[in-house]
Amino acid sequence: MMETQALHLLKAEGKEQRTGYISVASGKGGVGKTLITINMGRIISKNSGKVLIVDGDLGLSNVHIMLGITPPKNLYHYFVGEVPLEEVVVPIEENLAFISSGSGVKELVNLPASQLRNLIYRLQEYAETNYQWVLFDTPPGIHSDTTALVSSSHFPIIITTPEPTAIADAYGLIKVLNQEEKVKEFYLIVNKVQNQEEGLRVFESIRIVCEKFTSAEVKYLGSIKYNPKMIRSIVNQNPFEEGFTKELTNALLRLPLNIKPQATSFWERLISKLRRGS
Ligand SMILES: Nc1ncnc2c1ncn2[C@@H]1O[C@H](COP(=O)(O)OP(=O)(O)OP(=O)(O)O)[C@@H](O)[C@H]1O
Ligand SMILES: [Mg+2]
Repeated sequence: MMETQALHLLKAEGKEQRTGYISVASGKGGVGKTLITINMGRIISKNSGKVLIVDGDLGLSNVHIMLGITPPKNLYHYFVGEVPLEEVVVPIEENLAFISSGSGVKELVNLPASQLRNLIYRLQEYAETNYQWVLFDTPPGIHSDTTALVSSSHFPIIITTPEPTAIADAYGLIKVLNQEEKVKEFYLIVNKVQNQEEGLRVFESIRIVCEKFTSAEVKYLGSIKYNPKMIRSIVNQNPFEEGFTKELTNALLRLPLNIKPQATSFWERLISKLRRGS
């Protein structure tokens, strides 16, 4: 399959690079972030290396519900020293695993600095020796924990639907990330569209306001059709469907999966932002 080959190529080019961090975010809730994160994880894991999905929804997670798994422990249990990190990781399929953050990341902020640094190094080392990609599913809106996570990532992916309220909130999120966190590049997916033209119109409307009122550059990854079959897939806790996979694969092919070297690591950026917010 041509699409698969293209994803392979991206991996080969990025061979020397470190782990890539992708976060999936939205202004409005219910636009498909969790479904897209899980499917994205699966697609990348089949083509471009090992993937860890982290529920960046500090406390209010639903990745595990969609997958029909109940993680016995989350990152919090690791932070308080109850279990080793390996025990928090839940395998989903070959090359694809999941960690529930629980309230874990938030707890980090209150730790003494030396302990914090040590934990971050271990988390970073674990992620970077075991996974090529870490994907964060986030809660909707502009909470400071979410903006910290999204702005620390290499690839902020914004999800919206064609609904005017979802579009307005997607713009609101981009504006905050751009003005307060200095994020310049965003990647947009328009979900639950009737057809591709509708997706393009939504992208254009967001691009125009962003160009006018912010310094954000929004890149269009593509759209995903409203797919009634998805409901059954989710009821069966097997949230994968051929049409959805195809559209999302096409969107991912437009993501430049090469990571530019940065002065600080994802984890260092995240922690300094979380600290500032607390
Ligand atoms: N392309 C689609 N076609 C049909 N239904 C969809 C599609 N994408 C998502 N859905 C449905 O929309 C609902 C919300 O999806 P999901 O839970 O992934 O959204 P979310 O953005 O993670 O929500 P929240 O903001 O509450 O975390 C689910 O019932 C899902 O099945
Ligand atoms: Mg969700």
